Amino acid sequence: MRTLKDFDASGKRVLVRVDYNVPMKEGKVKDDTRVTASLPTLKHLLEQGASPVLLSHLGRPKGGFDKDSSLAPIAPILEGYLGKPVRFIGGDSELLPGSDAVLERVKALPQGSVVLLDNVRFEPGEEKNDPTLSQEYARLGDAFVLDAFGSAHRAHASVTGVTKFLPSYAGLLMEQEVSALKRVLENPTRPFWVVLGGAKVSDKIGVIDNLLPKVQGMVIGGAMAFTFIKAQGGEVGKSLVEDDKLDLARALLEQATHKGVKLLLPSDVIAAQKIEAGTPTKVMPADHIEAGWMGLDIGPESRKTFVEALQGARTVLWNGPMGVFETDDFAKGTLAVGQAIADLQGAFTVIGGGDSVAAAHKLGVADKFSHVSTGGGASLELLELGTLPGIEALS
Ligand code: 3PG
Repeated sequence: MRTLKDFDASGKRVLVRVDYNVPMKEGKVKDDTRVTASLPTLKHLLEQGASPVLLSHLGRPKGGFDKDSSLAPIAPILEGYLGKPVRFIGGDSELLPGSDAVLERVKALPQGSVVLLDNVRFEPGEEKNDPTLSQEYARLGDAFVLDAFGSAHRAHASVTGVTKFLPSYAGLLMEQEVSALKRVLENPTRPFWVVLGGAKVSDKIGVIDNLLPKVQGMVIGGAMAFTFIKAQGGEVGKSLVEDDKLDLARALLEQATHKGVKLLLPSDVIAAQKIEAGTPTKVMPADHIEAGWMGLDIGPESRKTFVEALQGARTVLWNGPMGVFETDDFAKGTLAVGQAIADLQGAFTVIGGGDSVAAAHKLGVADKFSHVSTGGGASLELLELGTLPGIEALS
């Protein structure tokens, strides 16, 4: 990828695609990690004397301007972190980021200004990767920096389309994310273990397939484990199972055996009849869950087995919680495994985005990892395919 090392930004207006798709509640930003993750690139550009013009999406608005998906609430937060004014241009249907009206206002600003434009998904051509829209974006800058790692799997106008019309570079976050995930994929120090969890096997099939030949061991927890356990003939009660993926789960288990990879599934679970704080729970064998009960976390024996297996690992990739960690009664498995990975000495440890990042923050262990990805879908797709449309566009 071409990076900021290849680019002298001084005196230039630089269009920067960030990923400020942050969780919102009642118009307020609930977690600004993605804003802070963009600061190194923005500070670098400002130090060079550039004027950054920021583009991002927020949520999945359908059909033009929608006040609830406006990026307006981000501007004061960014302003606080940068310690300088951030001009927001947007907030109504006349000020869409590709419009002439926005271009005029951007051009009128003094050099060194920071501008945040409104949600790119208000533009009908954004997700269609419309070249006309990409050209309209390109008028806003002399060069383009892609720093939206979390969106780099989307071949959209503001991510890949605009690179056809401006000299384009990877931002510092993009560079750091790609290098950490590629190190895991291409050059892991062994033993290399992968810890997978979350609800669905179907979300992780590509990752399992791509990583099985590279790893020494794989730990599978979370609801996705029940599809494997059922595939082996286990009784899983009313635990979440993808019945159309049973054959595939069997094939993956065979593949692991064939390749000599240790694939660990939970031997016991914490089961309940409903997902609710304070509901009665029982520890049950993972392959003998009573009818009407479901596994909502890995059990004490599995916690011990998983934690022991990870000792001595030199590279660990973690994606997906071991149970319904949002409810304290079912968080112990995720806590134990997250803590065990965080405590590994001299290992390269990566959280591959999504729910596991939220879990690591909730448990207070995120800062002990070598790398915490800001990308959910993007990190999974990179781990599955080894590249992303955003990487290709900059290469
Ligand atoms: C994400 O949160 O994974 C990214 O911002 C991409 O969002 P999207 O799935 O709506 O494209």
